Amino acid sequence: MPVITFVEFDGTEHQIDADSGLSVMEMALKHNIPGIDADCGGAAVCGTCHCFIDGGQSLPAIDPQEESMLGLRPDRSASSRLSCQLMFKDEWGDLTVRLPEYQM
Ligand code: FES
Repeated sequence: MPVITFVEFDGTEHQIDADSGLSVMEMALKHNIPGIDADCGGAAVCGTCHCFIDGGQSLPAIDPQEESMLGLRPDRSASSRLSCQLMFKDEWGDLTVRLPEYQM
C-alpha cells in the first residue's frame, strides 16, 4: 500500500497509508494532519488545501479551476497543487506532500 508523507512547514513528518479513492485533502483531514484547512470542502473554490507535491509526475493535469485558485497563491511553485483535486490512485505510489507556511 502506498504511503503518503505529509511534511509540515516546520519539518514535522506524518506518514499514513494511502486510501485509494480519497483525495489527498480528505486523507489529511481524516488523520488530523495540521496545515490543510479545506474551507470549501473540496469544491476547488477556496484554495485552503494548497500543498506542494514531491514526485508528482504521474498526477493528473491541473484543470482550469485548480489553475485559477493556485494563481492566487503568492507562494505558488512548480509543485503546487490543490490537495482536494488529487483523488488518490495506488499507481501513483508513495507521495510526499509538503504543507505551506499558511493557508489563505
Ligand atoms: S478544499 Fe477548497 S480548494 Fe480544495
